[in-house]
Amino acid sequence: MKWGVLLVLILASATAVSWAEKDFEDDGEEYSSLEIPQLKEFSAFGDFLSYGFYQKSCPGVDGIIHRKVKQWFDKDNTIAASLLRLHFHDCVVRGCDASILLDYEGSERRAPASKTLRGFEVIDDIKAELEKKCPKTVSCADILTAAAREATVLIGGPYWMVPYGRRDGVDSIAKETELVPMGIEDITSLIELYQSLGLNVLDLVVLSGAHTIGRATCGVIQERLYNYSATGKPDPSLNPKYLNFLRRKCRWATDYVDLDATTPNKFDNAYYSNLPKKMGLLSSDSALYTDSRTSPIVKALAYQPSIFRHQFAVSMAKLGNVQVLTDLFEGEIRTKCSCRNSP
Ligand SMILES: *[C@@H]1O[C@H](CO)[C@@H](O)[C@H](O)[C@H]1NC(C)=O
Repeated sequence: MKWGVLLVLILASATAVSWAEKDFEDDGEEYSSLEIPQLKEFSAFGDFLSYGFYQKSCPGVDGIIHRKVKQWFDKDNTIAASLLRLHFHDCVVRGCDASILLDYEGSERRAPASKTLRGFEVIDDIKAELEKKCPKTVSCADILTAAAREATVLIGGPYWMVPYGRRDGVDSIAKETELVPMGIEDITSLIELYQSLGLNVLDLVVLSGAHTIGRATCGVIQERLYNYSATGKPDPSLNPKYLNFLRRKCRWATDYVDLDATTPNKFDNAYYSNLPKKMGLLSSDSALYTDSRTSPIVKALAYQPSIFRHQFAVSMAKLGNVQVLTDLFEGEIRTKCSCRNSP
């Protein structure tokens, strides 16, 4: 009997689409097998993450995160890009487990690659509020993921549902931040990195579109401006006018420059239409257009803003589910995001 039911379930999930379209008799067995494809779809979104995770234990968690991020955003709009970047740095190393927030000698946060990360105080502020309302309940990893979504919406980007249930990691190792792209990697290594995270080429191109907002430090493009591949000359894949602009803008390696040269404060697809004009700031931005594996996607996104918006939501949701800790025996729910509960 059990095996019979199991077989029905497997068949049901394998043919989810045709089952939904097909007329069926209104008898119990057919009905129960129809429920299963939905569950399947759900767990493919990340094992044991769910939209109703805090429904009983901390109702209103979304509202609190929204209000707090908005307060910070209203004071300083640049916090939106910083929160997106913080979330990305977290998920690339050990998955979305808030390991980037741990602050001690030798942690990711203390590594050179984390030097210009911002937004920690936003997460601490949200966490403090949530600890008052529902102590020891909402993980820092969930807060950071939801804050990145709120930041996207505030800057004019798309909304997506964030499922909850991530647990906070207890390990954070500075050296592992070497995994995080610096903007100088070639497309092959970027594709390999994304693959290791369960993300594909489309996700790579679409998530790079986060560079529609935000800034980089001039140090990262120093070689492109003056001494590309030790030639003593600038990178030929830079538009000469743009090169001139960047040389004037970048007096010091610690100066900041916009990633999207045309509409730096607007969430739009101008990042992609800049690339064919040789106006990508980082060499990994330029490479997206010159590499044959990614250039067709860049062209499609440059011409169709609505596809970018839609796919950004999809790829961000995927990013937020990378290697999440959900088992009760792994990780913990931190009470303070910058330190582990127990030594
Ligand atoms: C360019 O970089 C190479 C390698 O780092 C170095 O040997 C060379 O002196 C640099 N050239 C200039 C003009 O700075």
